[in-house]
Amino acid sequence: MEKFVICGGKSLCGTVSVSGSKNAALPILAASILSGGRVVLDNIPRLSDVVSMCDILSSIGCGVSFSAGDRVLIDATRLNSNVISYQLAGRLRGSFLVMGPLLARLGSVSISMPGGCPIGARPIDLHIKGLAALGACIENRQGSVVAKAKKLVGTKIYLDFPSVGATENIMSAAVLAEGATVIENAAVEPEIVDLANFLCAMGANIFGAGTDTIKIEGVKILKPANYSVISDRIEAGSYLIAAAATGGCVTVQNILPDYVKPLTAKMKEMGIPLDIGENYIAVNSEGNFHAVDIKTLPFPGFPTDMQAQMTALLALSEGTGIITETIFENRFMHASELARMGASIKVAGRSAVVEGKKALTGAKVKATDLRAGAALVIAGLAARGDTEISDIYHIDRGYVALEQKLTQLGADIHREAEH
Ligand code: UD1
Repeated sequence: MEKFVICGGKSLCGTVSVSGSKNAALPILAASILSGGRVVLDNIPRLSDVVSMCDILSSIGCGVSFSAGDRVLIDATRLNSNVISYQLAGRLRGSFLVMGPLLARLGSVSISMPGGCPIGARPIDLHIKGLAALGACIENRQGSVVAKAKKLVGTKIYLDFPSVGATENIMSAAVLAEGATVIENAAVEPEIVDLANFLCAMGANIFGAGTDTIKIEGVKILKPANYSVISDRIEAGSYLIAAAATGGCVTVQNILPDYVKPLTAKMKEMGIPLDIGENYIAVNSEGNFHAVDIKTLPFPGFPTDMQAQMTALLALSEGTGIITETIFENRFMHASELARMGASIKVAGRSAVVEGKKALTGAKVKATDLRAGAALVIAGLAARGDTEISDIYHIDRGYVALEQKLTQLGADIHREAEH
C-alpha cells in the first residue's frame, strides 16, 4: 500500500499534457478482439485499470504487448477462451465490456460479476437486456453471467437509462449481428463516439454514435486496424480544477475543449478566467471564485466523474453551492474526508450543500474511490500544511504519472510506502 504526501499551499504553474482516455481505452481494448487479428492502439494510458483489461485479454489467449509512446498491440488471432475469472473481473467495472465482443466472436461467454469503484449498486441489467434482445440466452451461475447465442440477430433496443457501458457492450456485439440493430436512448458520451470510430475503422457500419439513436448494420467479419484513442476529459478537468483551486496559472494541453465544456461552463460561471484554444485550455486564477450549483447528468450535462473534484473546489469558494448527484446513489464519500481538512459539507440523500471556506488545512485522509481520491489531491494541493492520502491505488486507476505531472507544475507531492 502506498500514500501521497502533499505539502500544500503552492500555486500550480506551467503546462501539463493530458494522457489517453481511460474510459475510451477500456471498451476499445475489449472490442479489439472482434477482428481476430492484430490491432495497434495508440494513446493508451498506462493505468492499473488498463493493465487489468490487458490481463483479461491475455487470459483468453490474446497476445498483448506494450511498446513506446503509449502504444499497445493486441493480437486476437489465438483467442481460445470465453471464461473471465472472478480474480480478473473483480478488478474493474470495465471488465464486463468484454462480454459483448466475446459473445459476438465466440458465441458464448462466462464472466464473473464486475468490480470497480464502490459508488453505488451499479447493476448490469441493461447490458443483459440488450444482449438478450440480440438473441443471447443469459443466466446467472454461481456469481458468473453465462451467455450463449448460436447467432446474434439485429433488433430495436430501448435503454431505460442511457448507460455508457450498456451502450458500448451492445454496440460491440451488434457489429457482427445479422441485420440492423437500433439502440434508442443510447448514451452520447464522447467515449461512445470513440468506440464507434474504432469499430468503423475495423469495418463496422455504425451511424448516429454521439446521438441518442445509434444504428448498427451488422457485417460478417471485421478487419484489424490501427487506432488512436481520444484524450481523457476527466484527467483534463481535474488539472483545470487543481489550477483554479491553488490560484495557479496552468495550460492543459492535448485537450478536446468541446468535451470538457460542461466543466468549463461552470468554471466560467464561478468567475475563473479561462483561455480556450483549439487543443488547450489555460487557467489563470488568483484563487478567487464564487460558488455555483451543480447537478450531475449524462453527457453533455455535468459529468459525475468530475463531481468530487468540483466539491473540493466549492469547498474553497466564496458562498454556498449545492451539488446534486443524479447518476450514482453513493458518491459523496469524499465529503467526510474533505471535512477532515476543514471543509463544510452537509450531505442529505443525493445532495450536498458545500459552504465555501477561505482555506483548508492539511490532514490525514483516505481515498475511498478514484475521483474521491482526485478531490483529496486537489484539496491537499490547495490546503495549508501537510496532507497524507492513503489507499492511493484508487487514484492510480485513473491518473497517469499524477505526482510527476503535478511536480512539474510546482507542486510538492510524493509517494511513500504505507506501513
Ligand atoms: C461509465 C464510466 C464511469 C462513469 C459512468 C457515468 C467507464 C469504464 N466508466 O461507467 O467512469 O462514471 O460511465 O458517466 O466508462 N445502470 C443500471 N443498469 C445497467 C447499467 C447502468 O441501472 O445495466 C445505472 C448505474 O447504476 C448508474 C447509471 O446507470 O446509476 C449510469 O451507469 P453507466 O452509464 O452504465 O456507467 P458505467 O458504464 O458503469
